[in-house]
Amino acid sequence: MTRIDRRYFILGGAAAAGSLVLSSSATAAPLNPFRLGVASGDPAPTSVVLWTRLAVRPLNADGHGGMPRKPIAVQWQVATTARFSRIVASGTVNARWADAHSVHVIARGLQPGAVYYYRFRAFGQISPVGRTRTAPAAGTFGPDLRIAVASCANYENGYYTAYRRIAEENPGLVLFLGDYIYEESGSPGRVRSHAGGETVTLADYRRRYAQYRTDPDLRAAHAAAPWLVVPDDHEVENNYAKLVRANSRPALTAAQWRARRAAAYRAYYENMPLRSASFYRRVGWGRLATFHMLDTRQFRDDQPCGDYWKVCAAADAPNRTITGAAQEKWLLDGLARHYGTWDVLGQQVFFARYADEAGAANMDAWDGYRGARDRLQRGWLQRGVRNPLVLTGDVHAALANDLKLDYRDPGSATIGTELICTSVSSNGDGTALREVPWPGVNPHIRHYSERRGYTMVTIGQERIRADFRVLPRVSRPGAPVSTNASFVVEAGRPGLHRV
Ligand SMILES: [Fe+2]
Repeated sequence: MTRIDRRYFILGGAAAAGSLVLSSSATAAPLNPFRLGVASGDPAPTSVVLWTRLAVRPLNADGHGGMPRKPIAVQWQVATTARFSRIVASGTVNARWADAHSVHVIARGLQPGAVYYYRFRAFGQISPVGRTRTAPAAGTFGPDLRIAVASCANYENGYYTAYRRIAEENPGLVLFLGDYIYEESGSPGRVRSHAGGETVTLADYRRRYAQYRTDPDLRAAHAAAPWLVVPDDHEVENNYAKLVRANSRPALTAAQWRARRAAAYRAYYENMPLRSASFYRRVGWGRLATFHMLDTRQFRDDQPCGDYWKVCAAADAPNRTITGAAQEKWLLDGLARHYGTWDVLGQQVFFARYADEAGAANMDAWDGYRGARDRLQRGWLQRGVRNPLVLTGDVHAALANDLKLDYRDPGSATIGTELICTSVSSNGDGTALREVPWPGVNPHIRHYSERRGYTMVTIGQERIRADFRVLPRVSRPGAPVSTNASFVVEAGRPGLHRV
């Protein structure tokens, strides 16, 4: 891009591109089409996904954000400095009405292991600047990688202070493990309200994502680092499994339910910095780590024994699956490659056994799919996987678990680690409770906290470190963040050590 082109990008070139002024608007001032912010994701050594979605009226009920029914040209730039003094990639892409004016750009030809800045331009307006990075070159470790791990961000339940604090940490990567939006509306005790009722149609889901992105703390977290995202149930409907609903309201015919599910996933892709609408995928981070991002929702068998916490013999059936056969084979094949020092499984629901004294456990978690858990754990042992690390969301509490070959035998070998982030906002303020529930039957659970927040995980060649970051409240904005537990795991020696 020449100097003149850059000036044109910055100054807007309104005469050539035209300003977006709604005909019904009383003011002649151009409207900002970048109210949903920018995002990046799924970095590779020489490319990264850049995202934005144009909207001038984000809460419009048709989900189109007040945009005209036509394609809009969007320019994009990637630079090595935040002032865009050296632009290394640029182009123009059409934001289409059919995609709710979302754009996914794959910026290519980048240097491995580098930090970049990016921005968009449309209607003579410049977007906020996002910061992103590429993965290290194949065969290299790169520096230690600091990742923020988060999940469960019901907008009604609390403010997004956790997202603000994540942005302030300047992480290398953000992992978001499900329940980015919630489909329901009107939570009891809510501190703010979803626009519209329960999301069912494509328009509903599009508006829900747009409303979430009107939050400046969430936009800041997206602009701070590339994200690796996977959806869970609330991006569609609570506790659904494959094609089976857990709810009877709203009443839907089978065809309406399938249409709702498809609309939900379409809106998810439109609003996330993903390379494709296939959510399970691998993201390599040189020799340091391999991220195996899982989808434990779309392909799973139905929860046994009617779901929820149950004593359930059917959960032991050896042939049950939570990933589907194709994803399970893909995962085990990927674990056999031994490429990254740490094999990180980014996934949705509680992986280790977690039971009460009567033996009841959550049928929506891997405890409802014990055969699948056993096949995966034995699978990684058989393949000589040295450093498996399972990262999990879902339960609105933070936990650190030693993974065991046999959870009923405390003397059984520790074969990996699970770190569970708490919720960003779901369930509201949380509590000071720190005692592990039913410690007699859950001795492998080493940490428990019901505070809101996120987990910072620093991945190094020799060890990982986990810092559980907590907030005293989310019912009011601006709470300070602190650490209430830290652990390390040494490479080649499974097991959590409190520090
Ligand atoms: Fe959740």
